[in-house]
Amino acid sequence: MSRFRSVVAGVGSYLPKKVMTNDDMAKIVDTSDEWIRQRTGIRRRHIAADSETTASMGAEAARRALKAAGLEAGDIDLIVLATTTPDLTFPASATIIQSKIGMVRGFAFDVNAVCSGFLYALATADSFIVRGQARNALVIGSETFSRILDWSDRTTCVLFGDGAGAVVLRGEPGAPGMGERGVVHSHLRSDGRFCDLLYVDGGPSTTKTVGHLRMTGNQVFRHAITNISSAIARVLDDAALTVMDVDWFVPHQANQRILEGVSKRLGIPEERVISTVAEHGNTSAASIPLALDAAITDGRIKRGDLVLMEALGGGFAWGAALVRM
Ligand code: UT7
Repeated sequence: MSRFRSVVAGVGSYLPKKVMTNDDMAKIVDTSDEWIRQRTGIRRRHIAADSETTASMGAEAARRALKAAGLEAGDIDLIVLATTTPDLTFPASATIIQSKIGMVRGFAFDVNAVCSGFLYALATADSFIVRGQARNALVIGSETFSRILDWSDRTTCVLFGDGAGAVVLRGEPGAPGMGERGVVHSHLRSDGRFCDLLYVDGGPSTTKTVGHLRMTGNQVFRHAITNISSAIARVLDDAALTVMDVDWFVPHQANQRILEGVSKRLGIPEERVISTVAEHGNTSAASIPLALDAAITDGRIKRGDLVLMEALGGGFAWGAALVRM
């Protein structure tokens, strides 16, 4: 029986200062601003400095989310970090963030669900809160994909960027009902038969190296639209809601054409879609909280709005979530 619901108390994000434009990309690989914009909608992406890591960026996003929530690190008893690019193979980068923000209680761990990581982390933290096992949680997505890109492969290196986003979830009594703030529903899926279409060709237990990202982009593209659409239909159905109830669609920012394909298929009006793909590129697990923070900061997403999130990535792992802000 649900005793608590997870309310979004604050959101924060961090982007590295260094920006790479499509023209900068064209100096490295055989590509053009026109190709990248037409096929993906991406115009630029942020790239971490040598001194910046997944944990350092995640910690900064967490500090900003805590400030927005009016809470301190000592109020948090759980950190779930979604990342595929940890600082080290172990310990979990979540524990490095725990130390960086000065949190000396509770527990912290990483979740690896690649581009869907934020949705997996959100659902995980929500479960702990709903069961009363955590009171206040930080859900963070932070990635330094620039470190796992093959910078000679034009089919992948132009697509990704670095960054971090964080959400503070606060446990409040009662289940999330109609109109009440909180995580309403989430739906997670994976299907390992497709792991060869998007993966990193290295790891501690195989090559003993970090490896580089490999993707058969056009096949991932096709699966993305179908799987994301069905996850959205499922989460809306579970919540007994329709697309018309959704105030804002905050998708994973992989490709503008995927955002538009899904919106068209489900009848989501263009003006309700939050898109940061042009400015950030694909920041994997960080893309949803980065987009969420951008739309809260510019005043579009307000308290009480119903937000629909979705993502698909390596695995495949995918899902959707509904949150009343
Ligand atoms: O976040 C995780 C999930 N990831 C995604 O959802 C990504 C899904 N996939 C995509 O977004 C798209 O498939 C891409 C943007 C990766 C590629 O777009 P596409 O329209 O599917 O292109 P394609 O892979 O079918 O390639 C078309 C052509 C090829 O040339 P040929 O064989 O037709 O001569 C590629 O070699 O475009 C070429 N190409 C490029 N040309 C210039 C591929 N990358 C580039 C490039 N610049 N950067």
